[in-house]
Amino acid sequence: MLSKYVVLGGQRLAGAVAVSGSKNAALPMMAAALLARGTTILRNVPDLSDVRLMGEILESLGCRVSLFREPGVVVIDVIDEAPVVAPYELVSEMRASFCVLGPLLARRGEAHVSQPGGCTLGERPVDLHVKGIQAIGSEVSFHRGNVIAKGRPRGGRVYLGGAMGPSVTGTANVMCAAVLGSGVTIIDQAACEPEIANLAAMLNSMGARIYGGGTSRLVINGVNELHATDFSIIPDRIECGTFIAAAAITRGDITIERCDPDVLSAVFDKCAEMGIELTRVDDRTLRARCERRPRATDLVTLPYPGFPTDLQSPFMSVLCTAEGYGVVEEKIYPERYMHVPEYRRLGADIRKQYATCIVTGVEQLSGAPAASTDLRAGAGLVLMGLAAQGETQVLKIEHIDRGYERFHEKLSALGATIKRVDYRPARREEDKRRLAA
Ligand code: EPU
Repeated sequence: MLSKYVVLGGQRLAGAVAVSGSKNAALPMMAAALLARGTTILRNVPDLSDVRLMGEILESLGCRVSLFREPGVVVIDVIDEAPVVAPYELVSEMRASFCVLGPLLARRGEAHVSQPGGCTLGERPVDLHVKGIQAIGSEVSFHRGNVIAKGRPRGGRVYLGGAMGPSVTGTANVMCAAVLGSGVTIIDQAACEPEIANLAAMLNSMGARIYGGGTSRLVINGVNELHATDFSIIPDRIECGTFIAAAAITRGDITIERCDPDVLSAVFDKCAEMGIELTRVDDRTLRARCERRPRATDLVTLPYPGFPTDLQSPFMSVLCTAEGYGVVEEKIYPERYMHVPEYRRLGADIRKQYATCIVTGVEQLSGAPAASTDLRAGAGLVLMGLAAQGETQVLKIEHIDRGYERFHEKLSALGATIKRVDYRPARREEDKRRLAA
């Protein structure tokens, strides 16, 4: 059985919503728990299918994992430190599982992790992860689709700049690999994302000595041992940005609680250009209001603190209904446009050329069935449905479940008409013929 969202457009969203903890901070932090014996407790963890999958991967690596016995709490007990192989069946389900490479290598001296394939965002190589691990003294080889890293890291100088900018999970992997031992590691062109700064803070709370978390130069002095920790995860800035887009596309008024306004400068900037009123109520609260049709603007996705690629599709949804046209340029994943044909099904006017889209706002979208192509694109499609006339069915919402906690419940509480419905997928023609024979 699969699930879909059925959305009835035309409701103005208003009220308050609380942001969950950050998925992209939680996943590498769960992997980082492998670095110390004992019981690590993570708080403010979102209940997502990706988090549950990372729990299964950790169990296969000798941990006992208890998920959400208390809301937001994940407890990871490292019991057996022998396993070094992350199983393909689990790893192939989620790219972020590659984050176990660095912690396994540092703590157990060896790691075999399946090489991730491409995905709907396009080609996603791991050469920067590998280059970084090699630069700190470990050997890396490839065998039957696995990346095999051996030899405890000794420290060294690492440059993580790639053609598309630094790698976020690549920085996480090299940082985790470098924290144990007597060497000193300097990482230049490290990713500056808040999730990396938060991971560095978590590792330091375990006894690591990492300086410069959240900047492009990390200095890591290896230590002999780390201890388990009790650590709270930052709010999800992408979920927060998605609710800002929801306010804009429904001409709504949403108070977003438990967020971090300080990490959203690029979003503030775009909102000002688009006529979306975004105000900081206090250190943890924002208000997003949009009484009139937003104005179109151009969007370029960039590494942090630039406009995040993970908000490209939700903000493209807003552009689809804005006044005028805007040019969207994807500088992180040039192929992250699988959603464009789906958005067109609802009447969007989008012209795509290579890594650029020209989006001309239409006065009224019209509801239609359409499918999520990745988790952010799926959220963007739901937003389109909220603004469209009539009913929109959003299929393949398992993508959305990977990254948005209780998405439809939060939207319903803001006044959206949205329900989650189970359905049986239509049989393919050949299945039908086979069954009939
Ligand atoms: N890249 C390389 N070589 C590498 C690694 C990356 O060329 O070895 C390229 C990628 O192909 C891409 C760019 O560098 O063009 C950035 O990729 P990055 O490695 O930074 O992405 P990631 O670490 O795999 C994380 C998030 C993504 C988010 C990106 C970019 C997690 C678990 N995932 O992925 O989140 O889009 O950073 O900000 O942190 C999402 O949440 O929807 C999501 C896809």
